[in-house]
Order: sequence, then structure tokens, then C-alpha cells
Amino acid sequence: MSTDSIDIEEPTVKYERRDGGIAVLTLNRPGALNAFNVQMRDEVFEALMAVRDDDEVRGVLVRGAGDRAFCAGADLSEFGSTPSQAIARSIRWERDVWGLWLSLNKPIVAAIQGYCLGSGIEIAAACDVRIAADTAVFGMPEVGLGFIPAAGGTQLLPQLLGQGRTLELLLTGHRFTAKEALHYGLVSEVVSHGMLEGRAMDALRTILQAPSSALAAAKRVVSEGLDLPLAEAMALERRVGTTLA
Ligand code: COA
Repeated sequence: MSTDSIDIEEPTVKYERRDGGIAVLTLNRPGALNAFNVQMRDEVFEALMAVRDDDEVRGVLVRGAGDRAFCAGADLSEFGSTPSQAIARSIRWERDVWGLWLSLNKPIVAAIQGYCLGSGIEIAAACDVRIAADTAVFGMPEVGLGFIPAAGGTQLLPQLLGQGRTLELLLTGHRFTAKEALHYGLVSEVVSHGMLEGRAMDALRTILQAPSSALAAAKRVVSEGLDLPLAEAMALERRVGTTLA
């Protein structure tokens, strides 16, 4: 099935091109449950630029390597690092990974299995469609650890789940199941672990039957419209809609 495969510099992210204009982005630190470290942030940024700039890529599947996790959150071993490491990190973090992610005009499907904690949920929230395996375990532990989400969790989750549910999840930090994630509206579908990859790929292929221009327009109007008063958002919808006619 795979037509070609490129590892981007370091192995914390794998980026593969598949048939049908699909790119697969794999968070690739299975030994650390795909915890999101600075290196991974840089490599995700590179992969997202490849998605943005490659006209042959029409859609993206995001997944975690191994069987145990989508992503177990920020890499806790990087916390409390020395001043020089902190400076190095802040320089790297100047790359606006989340801004780039949210600005992509190509559909992104997340296939979530195992632990999906903290930044793992934020990564999933930045995708357009989220499908979970019945093994998935979710949670937002940041506040309990003395900080707050830093990858859009405080802003994207209220849009998906509402303010009340978001605050409940952030303030209690409690773990929840795939079934609960479905009930909350965090994921749109739960499938058995063995079916996850195939189902997520099928969902992406189905989406990609639509013209890229219409997919991009739908993403743009929905996300830009959220920041606008209703009348302006409706006008944006009309304007963008007429460009497709
Ligand atoms: N940062 C860095 N390393 C992590 C990690 C994280 N967020 N989550 C897991 N790991 C590493 C563990 O240190 C361990 O590495 P080791 O084998 O070198 O010791 C490996 O991943 C496996 O994790 P382990 O804790 O042994 O597995 P478990 O099944 O007992 O527990 C979790 C799984 C997810 C419950 C547990 O790892 C955990 O609580 N992780 C932290 C989650 C978290 O708070 N994330 C931060 C969000 S801001």
C-alpha cells in the first residue's frame, strides 16, 4: 500500500506518503508512550509544512506508534530543565506549530488508541475528525500538575465540548474512556482496537472523495466563522461559497 516513505531528520515523527493523496503522520516515541517533547514539536512542524506545501497531499491521518498510546502528553522529563535548556526550548517553541496545524486547509483525521493525555488531546482537538479505539484512555492532567494546557486546550476544547465539560475535565483531571469521549463529543466514533487504523483510513478516503477546494472552503469558513459575529460569519460563508460555484 505504501508508495514511498520518508523519515524527517529525527525519528520522533514519521511522515509517509500513501496512495490517494494521503499523508500519514505518526508520533513515534512508543517507548515513552509518544510523549510530546521539543524534538517532536520541531519535527511535527516540519511534517506539517510538508503537508501544507505538497500539492499532491490532500489529507492527513495522525496516529501514535505502538499499541499503547496516541500521545501521553507533554514529556514530563523536560520539565524543570536547566536555564540553558529552557532557553533552547523557548527558541524552538517560537515555531507556531499549533497555528500552522490549525491553518492547514486539508482534512486531518486522528486515529486514537491507548493513552491520549494532555497534549495528546490537544493534538486530537486540532484534527478535524477524531476516531478512537475502545482501548483509548483520555485525560487532561495539566492543572493537577500545577500548570495549564499550552497547545490550545483551553480554547479548542470549549469549542468542541462546551465550557462546562471542558472545565470539569481540566479542573478534575479525571481519566475517561473512549465511550465517555464519544458521549462528550470529543470523538465521533469508537471502534475496536484492531479496526482503528482501517476505519480511520476509510473515513479519510471518504472525505477525500469531495473536491479539495470544497474541503478547504468548509474548513476555512467553520474555523474563521467561530471568531466572527454571526452576521459577519454568514457573509463570509456567502463570499466563500460563491467562489466554489
Ligand atoms: N513524559 C515522559 N515520559 C513518559 C510520559 C510523559 N508524559 N508518559 C509516559 N512516559 C514514559 C514513562 O516514563 C516510561 O518510560 P520508561 O519505560 O523509560 O520508564 C514509559 O513512558 C512507559 O510509561 P509507564 O509509566 O511505565 O507506563 P504505565 O502503563 O505504568 O503508565 C501512564 C502509563 C500514561 C499512566 C503513565 O506513564 C503516566 O501517568 N504518564 C504521564 C502522563 C502525564 O501526566 N502526561 C503529562 C500531561 S501534561
